[in-house]
Amino acid sequence: MERTTVERIDYPGEGLAEEQVPAAPYELVVAWLEAAVERGRSGGDVPEPTAMAVATEGSDGIPNVRTVLLRVVEPEGLGFYCHLDSTKGRELAARPVAALTLTWPAIFRAIRARGRVVELDRDTVTAYFTSRPWGSRISAWTSEQSQPVDARDPLQARYAALAARWPDTGSPDDVPVPPRWGGFRIIPEEVEFWAGRSNRLHDRHVFVRTGPGTLADPAAWRRFRRQP
Ligand SMILES: Cc1cc2nc3c(=O)[nH]c(=O)nc-3n(C[C@H](O)[C@H](O)[C@H](O)COP(=O)(O)O)c2cc1C
Repeated sequence: MERTTVERIDYPGEGLAEEQVPAAPYELVVAWLEAAVERGRSGGDVPEPTAMAVATEGSDGIPNVRTVLLRVVEPEGLGFYCHLDSTKGRELAARPVAALTLTWPAIFRAIRARGRVVELDRDTVTAYFTSRPWGSRISAWTSEQSQPVDARDPLQARYAALAARWPDTGSPDDVPVPPRWGGFRIIPEEVEFWAGRSNRLHDRHVFVRTGPGTLADPAAWRRFRRQP
């Protein structure tokens, strides 16, 4: 086998000390997200700070993972939007559990979580859908997400037809909300904060749910450090 040159990069991150970890995970999720967004604005090396990998259980039992945008950040959970009939939508309908990771290598940080999943209610979905740019709203109707298609042309033709049907009037409700477009909230059972440090001796702080309560409720969580 041919040898490849592997570039090894040390992670000289600031780490995460016990006293920086709050009694419940929500505050730190928000703080790290804000830091990643700010880093994207100023340094440009975190271009999509809310890009989040979401893993589900495939219908064949093999895990499935894809990237989505984290669009709901609330003490109740972390959410994203998609087509409900997409592969992930079907997998979540069959088995409403998921794992997620937000990874920001440029700042040597990652957040992981796993938990149960619920569908977002229609008012929440409508409020978000109407905030999207017109072209994205037309695309939501155009694409039967995750279904096979022979080529790009039929998609473009469908986009053009739908764009003609619901022209851009500048109004947030010029395109109706597709009935099968929606979203999911992941309600974590476990949240981990990973902070990369030199010599691979990283910091990992974990919250495990001990009872009911939101991500902001200290009574719902037990906290400990995990070896890197
Ligand atoms: C940076 C990035 C952001 C994405 N955001 C979303 C999203 O918010 N919602 C979504 O449905 N797909 C999003 N996608 C596309 C998904 O990764 C995926 O291709 C699609 O959802 C179909 O996944 P599925 O077939 O497993 O259901 C994104 C992809 C990337 C790379």
